[in-house]
Amino acid sequence: MIEKKMLTGKVAMVTGAASGLGRGSAIALAKAGASVVCNDINKDELAKTVELISTNGGIAVPALGDISKTNEVTRIISSAKKRYGGLDIVHANAGIERYENLEVMKDVDINRLIEVDLIGVLICFREAIPFLKERGGGSLIATSSVQATHSLPGCVVYAAAKAGVNAAVRTLALEVGKDNIRVASISPGTIDTPMLTRDLEDMDVESSKDFLQKVKNANALGRIGTSEEIGDAVVWLASDMASYVTGTDIVVDGGFTAVKNF
Ligand SMILES: NC(=O)c1ccc[n+]([C@@H]2O[C@H](COP(=O)([O-])OP(=O)(O)OC[C@H]3O[C@@H](n4cnc5c(N)ncnc54)[C@H](O)[C@@H]3O)[C@@H](O)[C@H]2O)c1
Repeated sequence: MIEKKMLTGKVAMVTGAASGLGRGSAIALAKAGASVVCNDINKDELAKTVELISTNGGIAVPALGDISKTNEVTRIISSAKKRYGGLDIVHANAGIERYENLEVMKDVDINRLIEVDLIGVLICFREAIPFLKERGGGSLIATSSVQATHSLPGCVVYAAAKAGVNAAVRTLALEVGKDNIRVASISPGTIDTPMLTRDLEDMDVESSKDFLQKVKNANALGRIGTSEEIGDAVVWLASDMASYVTGTDIVVDGGFTAVKNF
């Protein structure tokens, strides 16, 4: 865990901060000294994230809203400026998944996955750019997935959305580099979050045990990752320690993509 106050004076916004990786990221950014605007659509869990940060001496505020809607993102980002004077770091992390073969997927479900997992990231980045420019630069970070590059049946649309995120990051870095704005994505492997728990809920006890073992065997370290390990990568990317890192995807997967054994 990065403990150094490497982000003191910085203002960060994290989407999907009521749960899993977003909560881990918000906590890590606050520990590193940033003031954090925590966004989600889940009011109660979002309040818990803010409380967790505040009781540990960090600075955070909740910002309810759906990141697939431009007017809501504009409102959330403006609240960062009103409350903390500006914005330096965006972690566009909110995401949904749905395991279903493309052949049987309904339009409404395809559209929602793309809206949240890809368009939501694009909107957050686009709306944040003028605010980061005002500060003389900053860092835009998206949560992608190893599924952007490694195939898993039942994940066609999710994989397409995440591959879109990687492509957008590469290209946007060229558009905003001159403004001292760095853009990157993080591709987590399997991380212990409520998203993973929901996947297991649909299985019987034996199948879920088998699945977890298979996931562990499918990476070099033989275990599932934690949201803290992703939070550390976010802090590093947002900090000056990553000052020459842009236009790229950082894989944090315990070696899943090296093993390719799923
Ligand atoms: N958990 C993993 O193993 C894993 C692996 C690779 C990538 N990811 C990605 O990491 C990100 C976070 O996943 P997680 O595992 O923490 O999931 P999670 O379900 O625990 O948390 C996602 C959060 O996003 C919020 N959210 C959903 N739609 C939203 C919207 N429109 N506006 C604002 N908030 C919204 C949810 O309310 C939830 O709190 C996602 O983008 C996911 O695709 C997760």
